[in-house]
Amino acid sequence: MKVLITGAAGFIGSHTAERLKEMGHEVIGIDNFSPYYDVSLKKLNADSLSKKNIELLTIDLRTDDLVKELPSISIISFIFQLIRVFPAYLHLMII
Ligand SMILES: NC(=O)c1ccc[n+]([C@@H]2O[C@H](COP(=O)([O-])OP(=O)(O)OC[C@H]3O[C@@H](n4cnc5c(N)ncnc54)[C@H](O)[C@@H]3O)[C@@H](O)[C@H]2O)c1
Repeated sequence: MKVLITGAAGFIGSHTAERLKEMGHEVIGIDNFSPYYDVSLKKLNADSLSKKNIELLTIDLRTDDLVKELPSISIISFIFQLIRVFPAYLHLMII
């Protein structure tokens, strides 16, 4: 299954991404590296995901055009929403 995780550089998102990858799923992460807390911790998480061949895109879900930024959008089959953003974009992602 192809899974999209928002907030993938964060605490729960990064662990979720790693676990799903271990389970054999294809994982794409999105994060805007917000400075809500120390960004270096998110960079460490991003490095760890990269070493496990998990793609992590720097996207801000409030402002970026997901259709442009994420061309493979139509084949995503599951989304883990781990940030507090009104999910107005979800209709673009679920087929
Ligand atoms: N950690 C916990 O114990 C816990 C418990 C209950 C609920 N939650 C909830 O679960 C969610 C994830 O928690 P966490 O601890 O992993 O938080 P976190 O802050 O570590 O991760 C959230 C990630 O979302 C990213 N993000 C924020 N706004 C974004 C945007 N507009 N576009 C793209 N990325 C964006 C941040 O950069 C961050 O990396 C939160 O909503 C939190 O309130 C967490």
